[in-house]
Order: sequence, then C-alpha cells, then structure tokens
Amino acid sequence: MSISIPRGTQDILPGEVEKWQLIEAKARELCEKYQYKEIRTPIFEHTDLFSRGVGDSTDIVQKEMYTFEDRGKRSLTLRPEGTAAVVRSYVEKKMFGLPNQPVKLYYMGPMFRYERPQAGRFRQFVQFGIEALGSNDPAIDAEVISLAMNLYKEMGLKKLKLIINSLGDKESRNAHREALVNHFKPRIGEFCHDCQNRLEKNPLRILDCKVDREHELMRTAPSILEFLNDYSKNYFEKLQKYLTQLDIPFEVDANLVRGLDYYNHTAFEIMSDSEGFGAITTLCGGGRYNGLAEEIGGPETPGIGFALSIERFIAALNAEGIELEINESIDCYLAALGEEAKDYTVVLLQELRRAGFSAERDYLDRKIKGQFKAADRLKAKFVAVLGDEELKNNKINVKNMSSGEQVEIDLATFIKQFKELQE
Ligand code: HAM
Repeated sequence: MSISIPRGTQDILPGEVEKWQLIEAKARELCEKYQYKEIRTPIFEHTDLFSRGVGDSTDIVQKEMYTFEDRGKRSLTLRPEGTAAVVRSYVEKKMFGLPNQPVKLYYMGPMFRYERPQAGRFRQFVQFGIEALGSNDPAIDAEVISLAMNLYKEMGLKKLKLIINSLGDKESRNAHREALVNHFKPRIGEFCHDCQNRLEKNPLRILDCKVDREHELMRTAPSILEFLNDYSKNYFEKLQKYLTQLDIPFEVDANLVRGLDYYNHTAFEIMSDSEGFGAITTLCGGGRYNGLAEEIGGPETPGIGFALSIERFIAALNAEGIELEINESIDCYLAALGEEAKDYTVVLLQELRRAGFSAERDYLDRKIKGQFKAADRLKAKFVAVLGDEELKNNKINVKNMSSGEQVEIDLATFIKQFKELQE
C-alpha cells in the first residue's frame, strides 16, 4: 500500500510555491522597512513553555499540542505558535540588555496544532509573525497593526476588516473576571464541561466557547470595556487615535477575546470580508502580552505582536481573484545537435548561469524539434542552437523567441554578446 500525506498537512508544489515565496519576500521587505529583525527558534520546545506561556486553560494546550517524550524522557512539544518561544529566547539571551530598544523581531516557519482539518485550518501551517518587546507606547501597537495591514494591502487584498478590543490591565481584568463569574455561576450547569472548568480558571475563555455560543447568557455577559480603569481606557483611546491618523479603518468588538491566555490591553484580528471565503475568516491575530516574559521567568517586559498564516493569506487572495505575478520564463535554452555539441553545452550552460542568467538544456536526448518544444514549455526568451558544424566554426545561433529574430555569434564571446541581446 502506498503511503499518503498526513491529515491536515499539504505539499506545496512548484507552480504554487512561487506565491508563497512572493508573500514571504514581501513580508521580509516590510520587516526591513519597519526594522524588525529575523529570529529563528527551534521547531520543538519544552512542553512547559506552552502550558505556562499560552495557558493551561486554552484549547491549544488542552487539545491541540503535538507533545512527545524524547529518549531522555523530557516532554517536548512541536511549537503551536511563535510568541512563547520568542519571549523565551528574549529572556534567555537577555535581549532586554541590548542597546537597541524596543527589541523588534519577526519569524516565519511551520507551526503545529492538532485541530480538525477544514478549509483554512491545517495541522501544520506556516506563520509569519512579529513581536516588539520592551515598549509600552500605544504607538507601537499601531505600528504592529499597520505592518500586517500593509502586507495584505501590498499584495493586493482589499476586502479586509480590522477588529480591535482592549482586554485591559490586571486590575481591569480582575474586576471583569469577577463580574463574569457572578454572571455565569448561577447557571453554569447549562454550559459544557469545558466551560464549567473555565469558570474558575479563566472565565474569559467562556466567551470564546464554540459549543455554547448561542446561550443567552453569552449575549448579556458583562463587557470588558465597562471595566477598563483610566490607564487602560487611555491606552485604548490612544491606539484608536493613532489608527485613525494612519488611515486604518477599524471596528471595536468587545467580544474579541482571542484564543491564547497571555493577552492584555490591545487585542486585534484582521478578517477577510470577501464573499466566497470559507467559514474561518480570520487572517491574522495578535495583541499585547505584558507579563508573558515574567511568566517564563524573565523580567517584567511589555510586548505586542501578531501572527498570520500564509495558507489563509493565499486563500484570501484566491477569494478576491488576485493573481500574483509570477516569473515563469527562463533567459536561455541551449539546444544542441550532435554529440560534440551536446558535450559542449554542459560548460556553456554553466557559463550562462554564472553570468546570472536562468538557463536550461536537454537531458532526455531529445531531437532538435523536441528541444524547441521543451524550450517553449519553459517559456525561454532565447534559444541558442549549437550544432557540430557551428562548433567547428566556433559559432552559435541565437533566436529571440518573441521576435523570431536570429543572430549568429562567436562562441568565444557568447556570454558577452548574449548580455547585449538583453538590452
Ligand atoms: P493565533 O490567533 O492562534 O495567534 O494564530 C494567528 C494566525 O495563525 C491566525 O489568525 C491564522 O491566520 C493562523 N492560524 C492559526 N491556526 C491555524 C491553522 N490551524 N491553520 C492555518 N492557519 C492557522 C497566535 O498564534 C499568536 N502567537 C499571535 C501573536 C503574536 N500574538 C502576539 N504575538
């Protein structure tokens, strides 16, 4: 029996992978402009990092982690997200001591969650994310959001919706938490088993429950925005002011809680507003996580970031009918006639490539007609034909495939003259 690909994963083949590369290149380009530097952390971490960092009461930690014991009996977990690991590294590598503050980092790579696969939901997916550590200025919250919005916009997406909320600081959250417990406690028996556990551990999570979404108490639950103290309220207002200044439209949604425990103050999601986009419309999620560094054993450090998956990015492009411009042509196809000429193209091919051209030759012993067909399939701009006869005379024939024009050039100066043909 043949072996198939694991559920919830995908092969990204040539033809499709070029879209990924374009998005990744644009993300890197924007990070350069915004001064976020790349960080690469391991694919697996100690399980404790996520149970402490992401939070014991989250779906990710309770149901979705790929956790295994290694041969040394350590519990390790394939990373389900990037933030906890970046903060771990920030603490471990003492980046708080770096002269350049805040520390602005980005990452790109596979994440793993054991979720029920469906459109836009994979078990292995690639996140691009950024994290800014060390600043408590709402202007950086606006910067983080604007980087994500600009990335989508620069790739051509138009139908985007930004939703923001404030989860407040500790004091505001505690007051809200108490109100939530009072709200749900008398009728918690009507809720699912998970929610019953959440009531004491983290009642905010109840608002995010997929099972009890329709329960009437969900609609009437006290809103965090009513419990924000002055500092939190001011912070949130400043962020909104900056977003307005930056011309980034947004909606405030007090029910936006996010699926990870480390958030406070700013929380946001960017959704696709495009018809024909699947049920899962969230493209990007992020927020502020002051306190996460302490949770992991580091000094008190404010932080904010986001992550988005390339899978959903591409789904949004498809839903809006946006075709990315992909370079599918090659500069030169070397066709050869006769044994000696064929041998000669081995070196010629290398010279072309060394000179910076994309070039290809035949490896299947095709007749000349077949070689021209192969050149067509590769959308070659030029075909250079070398026969044994030409070889004897130190010549090579170059055909411009769009104009049909042909020139004979000296083999000795082939590269130099081929360059001139490009002009
Ligand atoms: P998250 O909301 O769990 O946040 O995920 C962020 C984004 O990753 C989602 O909006 C979605 O685009 C993508 N994503 C998540 N799960 C899947 C999946 N199963 N298949 C495809 N795409 C998926 C975080 O991960 C936080 N670490 C974000 C953050 C960074 N907050 C602060 N800094």
